[in-house]
Amino acid sequence: MHALSSLVVLGTCAVQTALGRPGAIPRSQRGGAITKRAVDSYIETETPIAWEKLLCNIGPDGCATSGVAAGAVIASPSKSDPDYWYTWTRDAGLVLTGIVDSLAHNYSASLQTNIQNYIIAQAKLQGVGNPSGGLSDGAGLGEPKFMVDLTEFTGDWGRPQRDGPPLRAIALIRYAKWLVANGYKDTAKEIVWPVVKNDLAYAAQYWNETGFDLWEEVPGSSFFTIASTHRALVEGAALAAQLDTECRACITVAPQVLCFLQTFWNPSGGYVVSNINGGEGRSGKDLNSILASIHTFDAAAGCDSVTFQPCSDKALANHKAYVDSFREIYGINSGIAKGKAVAVGRYSEDVYYNGNPWYLANFGAAEQLYDAIYVWKEQGSIEVTDLSLPFFQDLLQDISAGTYDSSSSKYQEILDAVSAYADGFIDVAAQYTPSDGSLAEQFERDSGNPISAVDLTWSYAAYLSATDRRAGIVPAGWSAENGKTLPDSCEALQVAGTYTQASPTAFPPNQTPNPSAETPDTPFPSTCADANEVYVTFKGKVTTQWGESVKVIGSTPELGSWDVKKAVPLSASAYTESNPLWKITVPMKAGQAVQYKFVRVNGDGKVQWESDPNRTFEVSASGAADGGCSSQTVEGTWR
Ligand SMILES: *[C@@H]1O[C@H](CO)[C@@H](O)[C@H](O)[C@H]1NC(C)=O
Ligand SMILES: *[C@@H]1O[C@H](CO)[C@@H](O)[C@H](O)[C@H]1NC(C)=O
Ligand SMILES: *[C@@H]1O[C@H](CO)[C@@H](O)[C@H](O)[C@H]1NC(C)=O
Repeated sequence: MHALSSLVVLGTCAVQTALGRPGAIPRSQRGGAITKRAVDSYIETETPIAWEKLLCNIGPDGCATSGVAAGAVIASPSKSDPDYWYTWTRDAGLVLTGIVDSLAHNYSASLQTNIQNYIIAQAKLQGVGNPSGGLSDGAGLGEPKFMVDLTEFTGDWGRPQRDGPPLRAIALIRYAKWLVANGYKDTAKEIVWPVVKNDLAYAAQYWNETGFDLWEEVPGSSFFTIASTHRALVEGAALAAQLDTECRACITVAPQVLCFLQTFWNPSGGYVVSNINGGEGRSGKDLNSILASIHTFDAAAGCDSVTFQPCSDKALANHKAYVDSFREIYGINSGIAKGKAVAVGRYSEDVYYNGNPWYLANFGAAEQLYDAIYVWKEQGSIEVTDLSLPFFQDLLQDISAGTYDSSSSKYQEILDAVSAYADGFIDVAAQYTPSDGSLAEQFERDSGNPISAVDLTWSYAAYLSATDRRAGIVPAGWSAENGKTLPDSCEALQVAGTYTQASPTAFPPNQTPNPSAETPDTPFPSTCADANEVYVTFKGKVTTQWGESVKVIGSTPELGSWDVKKAVPLSASAYTESNPLWKITVPMKAGQAVQYKFVRVNGDGKVQWESDPNRTFEVSASGAADGGCSSQTVEGTWR
């Protein structure tokens, strides 16, 4: 995952012997039934191993976590070549979302303890100042990784990475929803929500700034980050309503994030360009997009292409483009025909450890298809569009565009073909899993031997979610269905958040399942409850030097009450030489008179104030006419 570690010259890599499963049939000769049997038997032995090894990597009591803080998830026990002895916010968030989804399906007190420890640890981490910044303006939440004892990591790194806060929010939201559904709403509200709130505020404030992608290599805008942000905001707004509070920034910003998400699509190529506003020199076909699809899967959203659901035509066309980009480049894929699963990695231009297939990539490619199969079975029909036709044609030559319903023989043929294809991706990983069942990060492109970090936590989590989906076990939805409305045009709306350190120390005991208290899921609220609040966008034209920033300060508490330490930072995401625009949207009490100024802060933190007089305006009166979500803009040029 971790680009900067590739700068380290690789020494000898321990090579384990993969393969050697007795009686293995070469993949190129396998068919549906044989692959299915092979995968069934792999799953039978691998599942308990994957659970055991995954839990080994969670402190304080995991078998591989000596010295690791409670609730910290290490990326891998590997301390050199590569050194993954850290806790990454992204990896941990994804792993914990899997654990919470699993808890909801099959309660276990020890899993619950891990979840509680994780939440307490994350609250602490939110307040740990680090090279990305601190908590006061949220900037520090974008720090990608920390030491295993929950202290800051001060070395050079690709920072910030803006997927961490939304992914952590999703994990916590899911646990909060479980608590509500089992009659523990107070715990959700008092212990979990204050932590979630900070991450949601970060997502709503910083989504429109560039950052590093999930592979920590490309500065720019990442499809995975934007998709995760959208889900967190939608699910966060729905949870807030369940907890009788509101995340207005979530409600206002989520449609804009979804709007931006659409712009990653390459219509002529029929795939997602995973990195934009950066990432030149790459095709853009990247595991990034597959992970975005499976981690924003919501069965209730059907095959919606706006939210890039796994069975949408866009996501299936993208799956083909992604998989095909690996067919020619890995030795272990040679001789395998189109329409058969192959080993897949992050992206074809990858050079990390010489660029190899990843276990979690193979599990992800399978998972998308299992998700699709689940939805097709639910809806009793499969739609093949012109866009997804080439995906299906690789599997069934005589197929044409159309809707196949469950009474047709084609419907079953498609299900069988896609199931066999999905199993094929698991089977590839199975073939290169050593006999002890351990899953490293990668397997070598020509030999299939495991390479890079051993026992990668994310590899086990990816295995477990993919095989759950294969078994028809899918997580509860996240309100995607009513959170998928697009605005008329995209707007770069960033809302200044307020951030407060949460300090939970313990959860109440015995919060065991009590599903009788189950409450229905709340939909994504599209209007704002608090009509006494107006979203004021400040736009300042200020020509700045590299390293300088601009803030707004003023007479009201929202603008720091003239205390420069509490001034609100503006965003330069729309800044150009010809239009040096700094802007931010600030929630403000309706109807008040305001005085304010812009200030510029140079690289050393020295503050320069605008000249007098103070600027003045009045926040408009209550915005009930606008469903409560009223807004206003004030602007000026530096003086
Ligand atoms: C539920 O979890 C327990 C471990 O906590 C495991 O032994 C059991 O197999 C699981 N059951 C299912 C149906 O997944
Ligand atoms: C910000 O959002 C606008 C509108 O969707 C988009 O055009 C722009 O590329 C985005 N920039 C970043 C850095 O996200
Ligand atoms: C601007 O506001 C500040 C804070 O109230 C005040 O001290 C200052 O005198 C004002 N400037 C002018 C020119 O009125």
